[in-house]
Amino acid sequence: QPSSPQMEESSVLRRADCRAKGGSPGFKVAILGAAGGIGQPLAMLMKMNPLVSVLHLYDVVNSPGVTADLSHMDTGAVVRGFLGQPQLEGALTGMDLVIIPAGVPRKPGMTRDDLFNINAGIVKTLCEGVAKCCPNAIVNLISNPVNSTVPIAAEVFKKAGTYDPKRLLGVTTLDVVRANTFVAEVLGLDPREVNVPVVGGHAGVTILPLLSQVKPPCSFTPEETDYLTNRIQNGGTEVVEAKAGAGSATLSMAYAAVKFADACLRGLRGDAGIVECAFVASQVTELPFFATKVRLGRTGAEEVFQLGPLNEYERAGLEKAKKELAGSIQKGIAFINK
Ligand code: NAD
Ligand code: LMR
Repeated sequence: QPSSPQMEESSVLRRADCRAKGGSPGFKVAILGAAGGIGQPLAMLMKMNPLVSVLHLYDVVNSPGVTADLSHMDTGAVVRGFLGQPQLEGALTGMDLVIIPAGVPRKPGMTRDDLFNINAGIVKTLCEGVAKCCPNAIVNLISNPVNSTVPIAAEVFKKAGTYDPKRLLGVTTLDVVRANTFVAEVLGLDPREVNVPVVGGHAGVTILPLLSQVKPPCSFTPEETDYLTNRIQNGGTEVVEAKAGAGSATLSMAYAAVKFADACLRGLRGDAGIVECAFVASQVTELPFFATKVRLGRTGAEEVFQLGPLNEYERAGLEKAKKELAGSIQKGIAFINK
């Protein structure tokens, strides 16, 4: 039998009390698009995250089933399901962090920009809900094309008078995860020991791995540099083609989204030195948004780091990235202001 709302509420309070005694805060997290290919494994991994006390799962289909399933896991977070637009407010009210993987994925032969027409409207509606119900929440935006959906979200928040650039983060962690994996393969290292900054945006040539800044310090031949840059830039397409019409990266994306969400929650908790790459409002280049390393803190992306020294290969890549990014950002802004 599903538990009653009263039993559930008292369970939340008991757990919150336990946590308060242990000194560890629990955060309230909503996933919008929680029944999807990314949403389901992401919801499972967030249900396992000890920093999460309440997990709200919203979708336009199937969220009750996903919620019932996950609610049987004996981990701390209390899971609640929300189905369809009339329940969006309930899903969002009181949230500290909102993760958005709602929207359609690519099929072979499509670019991420081909998703704009459908996903732009979805992101607009969901962000209007965020502005109304949890204007102070941190937003992790996954829906593609990220290079346009983040500017769309910013314009929605500006119109609502709630925009705080520190709280809006486009998730580019999968590019870093892939870069770490592919670089580790070339170097013969454990990927957990490798850290590759990936800057720019999240589509094709806008994905710019900074191989000159890899940790631990190393060097690559021109052939290795070309191979790695192309593979990292086309990692998404590699998965789309392998899935042959059944969608795009979901499992590695859920892993990457949880890595990033966990970093945001540790920042909110006040942990020091939390640094991740993300696509954020930025003054690093002449563009209004750009992905670089950011420092995550109690109020979101509290510091946006400069690019650091680039080699000639990376400087050429940066020019290509900026050209494409400028159009994608403008397209997102124009969608809201048309
Ligand atoms: P999916 O189709 O499997 O799941 C999407 C979910 O969104 C579905 O459950 C659907 O019902 C839901 N949805 C649709 N409209 C909605 C609305 N208005 N409100 C709430 N939910 C809604 O797709 P997926 O594979 O999970 O991918 C989701 C998105 O994430 C795609 O746009 C994809 O391109 C993107 N993506 C981004 C990255 C990244 O690195 N940022 C990586 C992979 C995928
Ligand atoms: C990815 O990088 O895997 C995602 O952006 C999905 C896609 O369409 O490639």
